[in-house]
Amino acid sequence: MALQLGDVAPDFTAPTADGEIRFYDWLGDSWGVLFYHPADFTPVCTTELGAVAALAQEFARRNTRVAAVSVDSADDHRAWAADIAETQGHSVEFPMIADVDRAVSELYGMIHPNASDTSTVRSVFVIGPDKRIKLTLTYPASTGRNFAEILRVIDSLQLTAEYKVATPADWRDGEDVIITPAVGDAEAAERFPGYRTLKPYLRCTVAPSRA
Ligand code: BEZ
Repeated sequence: MALQLGDVAPDFTAPTADGEIRFYDWLGDSWGVLFYHPADFTPVCTTELGAVAALAQEFARRNTRVAAVSVDSADDHRAWAADIAETQGHSVEFPMIADVDRAVSELYGMIHPNASDTSTVRSVFVIGPDKRIKLTLTYPASTGRNFAEILRVIDSLQLTAEYKVATPADWRDGEDVIITPAVGDAEAAERFPGYRTLKPYLRCTVAPSRA
């Protein structure tokens, strides 16, 4: 069965463009983003890895480690990384996992035969420090992902892991948040002084500051 939210992200050891990765050891206590792409030397994927490389500091600021996976070889990853740097203007400094035997892709259910028998789908996993899967997304091969959205979700995940709040549609870090329904009004008044009630089930507050 496909990996679902809350499942433990499988651990693995695999080659990368820059040596072996032991996934859990590499993650440590950080958040993680494992993103699959269909193939090296393809146009959309080239822009995606360039986009992630450009956001390296944003991921680091969120204590989040990022790794890319495809079934291409480490040699191909290294050669393609040069193309990415040349065309996208940013060097890939994160691990590019070379899953030639598809072991990691099978673990994560990333070969979808109705899409392709031979390559991985365009999926993202966000993994919490508890090694559990917090988000999955799968895009068609023809559509590049919006990695600013992945950062936005990580902001929400990190905030809502710490406080009894949820984030509304199109929320961005720093904007007002929603008090979760499990919090009664008395507790809400204590935790979120000055909160606003639009409906009994829709109560808003300024975002609690993150520790
Ligand atoms: C691309 O990255 O452009 C791509 C990869 C696989 C299939 C189609 C497009």
